[in-house]
This record gives sequence, structure tokens and C-alpha cells, in this order.
Amino acid sequence: MKKAILEKLREKSGSFVSGEELSRTAGVTRSAIWKHIKQLKEEGYDIESISRRGYQLKGEPDTLDAKALEIEIKAKKLIKKIIHFDSIDSTNTQAKILAAQGEVEGTVVIAEEQTEGRGRLGRQWLSPKGTGIWMSMILRPEIEPWEAAKITQVAAAAVAIAIRESTGCQAGIKWPNDIIINGKKVCGILTEMSGELNSVNFVVLGIGMNVNVDKEEFPLELQSIAASIKEFAAETASRKEIVVKILSTFEELYEDFVKNKNIARSIDVCRKYSVTLGRQVRIIQRGSAILGEAMDINDEGELIITNDKGEIQKVVSGEVSVRGITDYI
Ligand code: BTN
Repeated sequence: MKKAILEKLREKSGSFVSGEELSRTAGVTRSAIWKHIKQLKEEGYDIESISRRGYQLKGEPDTLDAKALEIEIKAKKLIKKIIHFDSIDSTNTQAKILAAQGEVEGTVVIAEEQTEGRGRLGRQWLSPKGTGIWMSMILRPEIEPWEAAKITQVAAAAVAIAIRESTGCQAGIKWPNDIIINGKKVCGILTEMSGELNSVNFVVLGIGMNVNVDKEEFPLELQSIAASIKEFAAETASRKEIVVKILSTFEELYEDFVKNKNIARSIDVCRKYSVTLGRQVRIIQRGSAILGEAMDINDEGELIITNDKGEIQKVVSGEVSVRGITDYI
């Protein structure tokens, strides 16, 4: 009901829509319309009402609630359902529980706040209320388990494009899963998989983006390496717009990868926006460090480096530090 009213108001944005027209559209009485408009205003929608002229939508809140997102999202081939929490321990944990219970591919779990947000390597992920994008998507790709890491590359490409297009910021990708602006990390990706030796049961793709987190909120040790989009964007960034853009771009690239077995588009984007290629890198793998220069990202999404002995080496995963970026000085 509210969805129909909002859609109508948006369609006629810039002008008034009469109560009569809204009640025809939504199939309810005019007094029911009035009650829904009141609720929408309480939710933060700026709606002007003038007697005999009707209602005009003047502004929308930057909430991530499921209804608002479902209306905006055009990526309907993949995104089947949005589950929004005001507060949750971790959207990845919740998505994994739902996936294990059989929830369909394309279910997105999104929260205003995470109380136990998780980063890679068991780290904590700061997720204060209403200031970031904390979301996880359930995927059931028909791929080999070893290919699941490629989904991180597809997501990194989608996120970089989404930030660039919706905020104008020059987002870069630090292989394999960090999104960087001006040398600072604004977003991380955590891909988790459940499967057998030969088959993927499900993948949970978690994306955490600092959009409006205040600098002082980051723990002291992260203040020099982490940042929020708001520090770099010319205008206030809309979380909703970024989420919608990520999902629609991800859908396109993901379909290409799983249906057409073509990851080239995503890898091209990862190369184009890479902040890793051409730089000195230090990779920590199973406790030991490899030093070298990042040369390329191959079609499998692996990082190709020339190590300090001059040998060419393929890196599939590991903790990567890039000299001059975030934490490798
Ligand atoms: C990293 O860079 O270490 C990855 C961070 C991933 C954080 C996101 S926030 C949404 C989702 N839920 C979690 O608990 N973690 C991921």
C-alpha cells in the first residue's frame, strides 16, 4: 500500500497528486491515504500536503528499509528479497543462518547497525548505526568451490563502479577485497562459503562500507588507514543510492560470471581501478611474508607478482599490503 503511494508520488515528483488520485491508485479510501501519508512523514519522508491540491513528495530519508529499497531496485533478476534489521550481530552471520535454512539466492540482509560486525581474519568490523552500508547477500552459484574467491572480484568491481557513479569519488581496488579512496580504506568485502569438496552449497557475500562514520569513531589504530565516503564526496552521499547501484551493477557482472562463465568484465574493472598493480607489495601467507611487485591480475582473478628473487608468482589469497596504501609504509 505504502509502496503504491510512494511510487505514485515519485512518478509525479515536482507536482501535487490529489488524494483522490492516490486513493484510486492504491484502491483505498482517502482517509486511509491520509493515514499512510502521516506514517510516511513519521518515517522521515518530506511530503507537503495542501488542501484541494493534494500531496507532493519533497524529500526522502536515507533509510535502507526493505520497502524503500525494493521500490528502487531494478536488479530484479537476482535480488529476490530484502531483509532489513535495525540492529543485528552481523549480517553475514544472519545470512549464513538463513541460507542454511534454505533461503533463496538473491536474499539480501541489511542492517542499520551491527553489534558484532566481522572483518577478514577474524577481525572486528565497526558498524555504527545509520552511518554505513552493512549488508550481505545469499548466492547459490553453480561453480566449483575453488572459484568462489572470484565472487570477491566481481563484488569489488561492482562496488568501485557504484561509488564512482553515485558519489564521483575515485574509488580504487586494493586486491582482492578492499576499496580505497585517497589511500584510505572505505569498504571491505567478506566472502564466506559453505560447500563440499566438489560443490558449493551457498556463498554469503558481505559488504561493509563506511559512508558517514565520523573519523573519531574509528579506533585509534585505524584512524590513519580507514575513512568514510563523506570525507571525499562533494555532496552528502546517499546510502540508498549506493546500495541500489551496487546491487544493479553486481547483478550484471555476476550473471555474466555464473551464467556466461565470463569474468573478464569484472577483472577488467579490477585492473582498471587497481591501486595494487605496479606497486611494491607484501603478502602474508600462512605466516610467512612474500615481497614483490604486483604485475597483473590474471583472468582467474589471481594476483601475479614478481617476487624479490625475480621469480613470477601467482597469489591466490593472503593478506596484502601495498606500499604507500593504508598500512604498508
Ligand atoms: C574486511 O575488509 O575485513 C571485510 C569487512 C566486511 C564487513 C561486512 S559488513 C557486512 C557484513 N557483515 C559482517 O559481519 N561483515 C560483513
